[in-house]
Amino acid sequence: MTSSLANTEKRYLFIKTYGCQMNVYDSNRMTDILTPLGFEITEDLEKADLAIYNTCHIREKASEKLYSDLGRVKPFKKKKIENGKDMLIAVAGCTAQAEGGEVMRRAPYVDMVFGPQSYQNLPEMIARAMREKETRDNPALRGAGILNVDFPTQPKFDDLPEMNKVEGASAFLSIQEGCDKFCHFCVVPYTRGAEYSRPVKSVMDDARRLSDLGVKEVTLLGQNVNAYHGATLDGSGEIPLGQLIQEIAEFDQFEIIRYITSHPNDVTQDLIEAHRDVKKLSPYLHLPVQSGSNRILKAMNRKHTRNEYFKLIDQFRDARPDIAFSSDFIIGFPGESDQDHRDTLDLIRHVGYAQAYSFKYSMRPGTPAASSEFQIEEAVKVQRLSEVQALLDEQKMAFNQKCVGQEMTVLFERKARHEGQLSGRSPYMQSVYVQANERLINQVAPVRIVGCGNNSLTGEVIITDN
Ligand code: SAH
Ligand code: SF4
Ligand code: F3S
Repeated sequence: MTSSLANTEKRYLFIKTYGCQMNVYDSNRMTDILTPLGFEITEDLEKADLAIYNTCHIREKASEKLYSDLGRVKPFKKKKIENGKDMLIAVAGCTAQAEGGEVMRRAPYVDMVFGPQSYQNLPEMIARAMREKETRDNPALRGAGILNVDFPTQPKFDDLPEMNKVEGASAFLSIQEGCDKFCHFCVVPYTRGAEYSRPVKSVMDDARRLSDLGVKEVTLLGQNVNAYHGATLDGSGEIPLGQLIQEIAEFDQFEIIRYITSHPNDVTQDLIEAHRDVKKLSPYLHLPVQSGSNRILKAMNRKHTRNEYFKLIDQFRDARPDIAFSSDFIIGFPGESDQDHRDTLDLIRHVGYAQAYSFKYSMRPGTPAASSEFQIEEAVKVQRLSEVQALLDEQKMAFNQKCVGQEMTVLFERKARHEGQLSGRSPYMQSVYVQANERLINQVAPVRIVGCGNNSLTGEVIITDN
């Protein structure tokens, strides 16, 4: 078979990313790996020589999306084969890791399935897939059958190429991966593997690279980013996240530092101090609590109480009075009673969030909660979720209103829909719209907030003398 992958023609890569920021980071890194092989990004499936679906497995809906997208790509591949060419289809990410065999069974035209810890081997997997297909007499829709869901002993970061391209002035930097916490609802420990912190040297090398590429806002990533304990430069010990943030802040080029996602049990004094001392660190913290009921927190295996969570919130507020919080909530976890639900509403009222995500509990195969006999009826979940979301929406609106009149640092990202308007992000991740010159795109500027809506702010750039 003649594949456009085999010759020197331009090759096109279509890549679709589902799920969390870690997947966005991984997709960027896959692109970095493939660019030297001559791949150019396309959003047009018809052109694609390689289509990668970088999947999420966190809730049932997320992983079912994959199968409908695969159904959509199949006719494009078929057409290519009819024209004597081919398209390689790859399924990457957490669904690939959790149910790679099932993906191949349900979509046998998929060529490669590999997990989040194996994509550094992409060039080799592509070569193998092509060899496999070239040995066939007849071109066929049947995939190359490559399955790679190992957790290699050598961390993938050691084999990844240097980051060579950044869109805009904001970038993710992965510093920690995996999770050993095994919350009873969650697939992440099974899909991402054991907790791993990158050594400080390798993080700092990437940070330098991002700074050279003109990045102004860096977001440190990890499934449990504040569990970070990377080996020091001289290998004599380890440093926690708060200290790493201090080191990263030394790069003059970086004006805004963020990190996500934190676990309450891994909050340490040095992180609270970083919020007090590092001006570049955004006064915004995503600190998922999942439930406001001690009984449910225990059943979830979260290993902290609601009062311990409140204490952390107070400590952060003492250290940085303008800090605001966001969270994740799971509604209708097995066994959740009306009282537990009221406790969650009460916790939300007590903390007062800038915004938060809330999800109906979704049964995930292989996790302890999935086999509980106390599953909550769908109608109850729907009702409780709507109550939680109404309260969170109210708090979001109140928070947005509180922002009016304040001065904020905004990184401008793009032109907005309205003529002459730009859109950017506030320290609290709200979209901010201002009338401003396009020259401000990818720049950080002080803005006075003059108005707000449910989901965004409007502002005016503050003209400074220098
Ligand atoms: N490490 C982070 C969360 C990562 S998963 C933490 O510990 O908080 C992102 C969010 O997805 C979780 O915070 C949780 O709210 C949600 N989630 C995970 N598993 C889920 C499930 N089975 N059903 C519904 N939501 C789930
Ligand atoms: Fe999942 Fe819990 Fe680990 Fe977060 S801490 S990734 S919710 S197991
Ligand atoms: Fe989804 Fe995997 Fe992230 S399951 S939320 S893509 S870690």
